[in-house]
Amino acid sequence: MTTTVTSGALSEVEADFHVVLISPGTARLSGDAAAADRATGGAITRMLANALFTGKAAEVAILPVTGRGKAKRVILFGLGAAEKRTVDTFRTQMGNLSRRLRDAGGGSVAISLEGLEEIEPEQAGETIAEGFILGLYRFDKHHTKAADRPTSSVGDVTVVAGAARRVAAARRGAERGTIMSEAQNFARDLGNEPANLMTPTIMAARAQQLAAEVGLDCTIIERAEAERLKMGSYLSVSNGSVQPPKFIVLHYRGGGPRGRTVALVGKGITFDTGGISIKPAADMDAMKGDMSGAAVVIGAIGAIARLKLPVNVMAVAPCTENMPSGSATKPGDVVYAMDGQSIEVINTDAEGRLVLADGIAYAKANGASTVIDVATLTGAVRVALGTVRFGIFCNNDRLMAEMERAGEAAGEKMWRLPLDDEYAELIKSPVADMKNTGGAPAGSITAAKFIQNFAGDTPWAHLDIAAIDTTATDAGVNVKGNTGRPLRTLVHFVAGRAK
Ligand code: BES
Ligand code: MN
Ligand code: ZN
Repeated sequence: MTTTVTSGALSEVEADFHVVLISPGTARLSGDAAAADRATGGAITRMLANALFTGKAAEVAILPVTGRGKAKRVILFGLGAAEKRTVDTFRTQMGNLSRRLRDAGGGSVAISLEGLEEIEPEQAGETIAEGFILGLYRFDKHHTKAADRPTSSVGDVTVVAGAARRVAAARRGAERGTIMSEAQNFARDLGNEPANLMTPTIMAARAQQLAAEVGLDCTIIERAEAERLKMGSYLSVSNGSVQPPKFIVLHYRGGGPRGRTVALVGKGITFDTGGISIKPAADMDAMKGDMSGAAVVIGAIGAIARLKLPVNVMAVAPCTENMPSGSATKPGDVVYAMDGQSIEVINTDAEGRLVLADGIAYAKANGASTVIDVATLTGAVRVALGTVRFGIFCNNDRLMAEMERAGEAAGEKMWRLPLDDEYAELIKSPVADMKNTGGAPAGSITAAKFIQNFAGDTPWAHLDIAAIDTTATDAGVNVKGNTGRPLRTLVHFVAGRAK
């Protein structure tokens, strides 16, 4: 699917669907809507006059083209009240519309921006591309029966933007939206793939393939090298698995040799059984997605490279399975991270923080001046925030403000949680520098306090995405399964540093 932007009239574009946006209270049609009205034999005027279409938010009517016209059908799309129109709701509406059009038989789509005065053309282009590319995502590659596969699809989308200046802006937005959404779908693909088909080895291969496609340096640190680097915390998680661990490092150097480096560190547990502290059977299959953080940072650096942002970025994805076996780490074992800190492993199911410890230590040892980690870290964050906002912890208020802005631009909501020193008491160990669990209270916070020990004074943000990495329903840009969130927040964050 490609999104193109043109000037001129909607009626001049050859497409299966012509989409016109209608505001509540519209009485007289002009421009593209008037032309669409003529093509439908005056149906739009009659529908409005008889209140069969009112323009309320997300209202859709599908009309046949009766006269001469370059479309087969006209789609009326309700924009809703002007004061409630935001970039976020428009993005959501475009996601929902994309699936409506697919259900209506699919084909090519042209959308007129007339009537969308509240939204800048650049943002309109970006959100239409995002709505369609993200909204139409499917993961159905393992269905072998034709009946289980899609019968229709939406092809190319043309945005009819009006004057030349608006076209250039909308085109910039559409390009950025396309690159970010394709990256997000890449991350979704990795997260949706079952764990037998998304092992650390396969993740490393996918990262190398991406690196070759978009021009990134890719290094895979194998077990022997990780041992030399003394990544004892990360390696302790892999002890029970027959799958070799793969510590993925990607570099994008858009900021020149003297520029500072942002590190994006993603938890890459390709399957989390809990290890010896084994999880109950119910819903354990969901733990195939415990590498979502890694998928998001790999996808994000790919998008950053495609956007050619003038910033240096490193993506670090410590990947391994967490399995029980005769060689697995045992509760009570003490391990050492590469920066020398010791950890008492109380619960082998608190493995994410163990791999992040070495991920962050590695990033810092290799020149990171800002660290953002992304991890499906705690069930407790679902209790705290549900599936609406992800949890964010940050040791630096300026960095926090940058993350807030990036989240707003992406339409991905977050909520800051605290890092008071008192919480660190809960992870004190009698035998090591710290222990890896702090008991039931404040489970997401004690996990963050653990990770903070490795970030130290480096500006750092920790994103606990355990409740938002998957979704149960199709809604807006989200499609049932892995969400690929918050990839666009990361890209907007890095883009913000380019200014
Ligand atoms: N991967 C899980 C967290 C998780 C749970 C993600 C549910 C998505 C859905 C993580 O490794 C884990 O097991 N965390 C434990 C920590 C506990 C042992 C301190 C948890 O949250 O129960
Ligand atoms: Mn776990
Ligand atoms: Zn886990």
